[in-house]
Amino acid sequence: MSKDSSSKLWGGRFSEEMDSLVEEFNASISFDQKMAFEDIDGSIAHATMLANQKIITKEESKKIIKGLESIAIDITEGKIKWQQSLEDIHMNIEFELTKRIGDLGGKLHTARSRNDQVATDFRLYLKKQNETIIDLLTETMKVFVELAEEHIDAIMPGYTHLQVAQPILFSHHMLAYYQMLLRDQDRFIHSLERMDVSPLGSGALAGTGFNIDPWQTAQILGFQNPAHNSLDAISDRDFVIEFQANASILIMHLSRLSEEMILWTSQEFSFIKLPDSHTTGSSIMPQKKNADVSELIRGKTGRIYGNLMGILTVMKGLPLAFNKDMQEDKEGAFDTAETIIIILKLLLTMMPKIKLNKKRMYYAAGRAYSNATDFADYLAKKGLPFREAHEVVGKLVAIGVAEAKDLEDIPLTRMQNISELIEADVFDVIRLEHVVNVRNSYGGTSSEQVSLQIANAKKILGLK
Ligand code: ARG
Repeated sequence: MSKDSSSKLWGGRFSEEMDSLVEEFNASISFDQKMAFEDIDGSIAHATMLANQKIITKEESKKIIKGLESIAIDITEGKIKWQQSLEDIHMNIEFELTKRIGDLGGKLHTARSRNDQVATDFRLYLKKQNETIIDLLTETMKVFVELAEEHIDAIMPGYTHLQVAQPILFSHHMLAYYQMLLRDQDRFIHSLERMDVSPLGSGALAGTGFNIDPWQTAQILGFQNPAHNSLDAISDRDFVIEFQANASILIMHLSRLSEEMILWTSQEFSFIKLPDSHTTGSSIMPQKKNADVSELIRGKTGRIYGNLMGILTVMKGLPLAFNKDMQEDKEGAFDTAETIIIILKLLLTMMPKIKLNKKRMYYAAGRAYSNATDFADYLAKKGLPFREAHEVVGKLVAIGVAEAKDLEDIPLTRMQNISELIEADVFDVIRLEHVVNVRNSYGGTSSEQVSLQIANAKKILGLK
């Protein structure tokens, strides 16, 4: 019995045609076609195992596999037109196969259900995206470490409350992002381990009566293990949620970076210039150069969080095992994966081309009395109780504010009117280089500590 696309592959018990709006609403082919190659890989593994287990003959398996391979080629060449009436990628491919090899195509679905099939395809698909993201994160981390190394002499303001707080090395700031990305990558690596389980063999929900070998299909497909519980294997999507959660944390970090790129390129900051290749102009204001890439990364954070909320909500309260609700698991995950991948690729090409205005950064680092704490520490080291030292420097800052002067511009004699403990050596202590390098505690901003962390990072990333 051969079927055309208007009679469903599951049509046996139905007497009425499906309503056309239901067909449109029910179908997932418009998006799950992205998993076509994973579906074919899964089917080839399944057919191989079925023959090894003598559930079908070697001849049958060979024909099925040849058919599937020819479909893969035609997909690559854009020769296959997916049909909504066939609902999803699984049934479209099975239909194609049957068109090519006849009723034998129907044997492929022995000891398998679309439920274990879709769970397998989706895990294969997300594993690949995970691996791509892990690799791209390594490359992105290298960029931050290289920036840190290249500009080790650049001093910039460090902020709290976006008010200038203490001077820091630009490199220290870059390495802060390196640390965030390192943890982000770690999250992807560890959830990849949990994702690495093959649902094939779980059937519709309860396993199968055929003598299958799920270890074999797991191995062929590159999974660590077959699933240990069929209900869990076909009905949980925690691997999708973890992926989305990891992506959300990652893009939260990248949105902070993007915000800083936007701030730092503004006329008011002017710390960096973004490359022309990654900025856009305005259709009306000829002078404009906008940080659109950074703004879009910041903006796309919304959809990534939204996708996480979407899948969490879809899964909440669903009874075991499969429910059609779960078809809603894919679009958000595809979108998240594709969005993260393009963003990392953009950062990889944009970040190495940023140009620093080191003079401007240095100047900004010295504003707003960012060395006042060091001045007070100087007095405290000379025996003045810190509270009093704080008071003395407070008075000096007040003079500075009234006369629009930095601390180092106030003459020594005037300083000595306020405290006799102040001597000429204070000017060395409050120089920005000193202020930075004195913060030599582990993980601090001194050149020594930052250089140590650059060396550690290079080792981890395999950089020379
Ligand atoms: N298109 C479905 C999905 O994406 C495949 C699984 C269908 N299973 C079922 N019992 N209807 O989840």
